[in-house]
Amino acid sequence: MRTLDDLLSVGVAGRRVLVRCDLNVPLGAGEHDRREVTDDGRIRAALPVLEKLLDAGARVIVVTHLGRPRTLFGQGAPDPEYGLSPVADRLARLLGRPVTAALDTVGESARLLADELGDGEVLLLENVRFNPGETSKDDAERLEFARELAELTGGEDGGGAFVENAFGAVHRKHASVYDVATLLPHYVGDLVRDELDVLGRLTGEPARPYVVVLGGSKVSDKLAVIEALLPSVDRLLVGGGMCFTFLAAQGHDVGDSLLERDQIDNCRRFLAEAGDKIVLPTDVVVAEDVAEDVPAETVPADAIPGGGKGLDIGPDSVRLFAEALSGARTVFWNGPMGVFEISTFAAGTKGVAEAVAAVDGLSVVGGGDSAAAVRALGLDENAFGHISTGGGASLEYLEGKDLPGVSVLETV
Ligand code: 3PG
Repeated sequence: MRTLDDLLSVGVAGRRVLVRCDLNVPLGAGEHDRREVTDDGRIRAALPVLEKLLDAGARVIVVTHLGRPRTLFGQGAPDPEYGLSPVADRLARLLGRPVTAALDTVGESARLLADELGDGEVLLLENVRFNPGETSKDDAERLEFARELAELTGGEDGGGAFVENAFGAVHRKHASVYDVATLLPHYVGDLVRDELDVLGRLTGEPARPYVVVLGGSKVSDKLAVIEALLPSVDRLLVGGGMCFTFLAAQGHDVGDSLLERDQIDNCRRFLAEAGDKIVLPTDVVVAEDVAEDVPAETVPADAIPGGGKGLDIGPDSVRLFAEALSGARTVFWNGPMGVFEISTFAAGTKGVAEAVAAVDGLSVVGGGDSAAAVRALGLDENAFGHISTGGGASLEYLEGKDLPGVSVLETV
């Protein structure tokens, strides 16, 4: 794989470089109800590569997706709710340089602005998923869109190059992640390189004990990773919404908690195969509703009252999980332990995050919600060995799946 440094060493001044970033960040309502970035972790993680290129005089064209937009009115107008202007504002502020935002992906606005880019200037294309070619299952349609993206750089003959820096999206065989790399000289960005290095340490020969903590709402999203990790981990701690399907598999009544009935057999099988490797919560925080200021109580995990929803793991479970984590030398954590966005149900995630941060060894937080939780709960990011920018991507890596956005970089 050619690296960003390889590209820099041949010189990028005056060349247009397309950089795929994953600036898919959460948005919320800011002042005057304007959409605002609520967690800029992924934007900050993208900066070093952008700065290296800009300092070297490249004309940088940033391409990213935001959410999973559906086009309004059929395939006509893109949904403004997924427009990138809040991201452009935050990127400009963090870079400390102006960021020109195109009004489209490969249309008139993008083409004109790409042509006008000066050395050391940056252009952000509009949400790449506004173009149906991006996510198309039809290879020809995707390639066609990728061709238009590549043309913004002037193509290979015009000095164009592609840098893959979107670790969070490398598991997607999308035009701006995969196909465009087949059309331009391509380089792995430092962010992707570093993520692969760290995750490689989890799959190689991890220092033991190796403890994995999984949370989040659905078992069905985690089946493959559980299957892949069970043989190699020493302990698998399960919290979050997904623990209720495991508790149901043990024969407990879980009230109105999240339950995937069609996964009960799978959970039963995992529990039978894993022996005492799988550790489940011993107590949970229940309430009748997922809302601020609802009355909540902590109950034993095998005595959830009918009508009660389990929305966090309880303090005994936090102690149990923290104990398992205290001796660990390698830890991977993916998925919150409860509805941490609501303070009544945040203690489980906070307690587990603190225990992961205290690990004397390699601690890896696997992207998405867990990374957002670390920041939202005010924890020190530096206390963790590595906070991945990839949720689905880091899980698929650990499952041993091919990551199209990485394997395409291995081709010349
Ligand atoms: C993520 O948030 O995990 C990445 O940005 C990928 O988003 P996607 O799951 O919508 O492809």
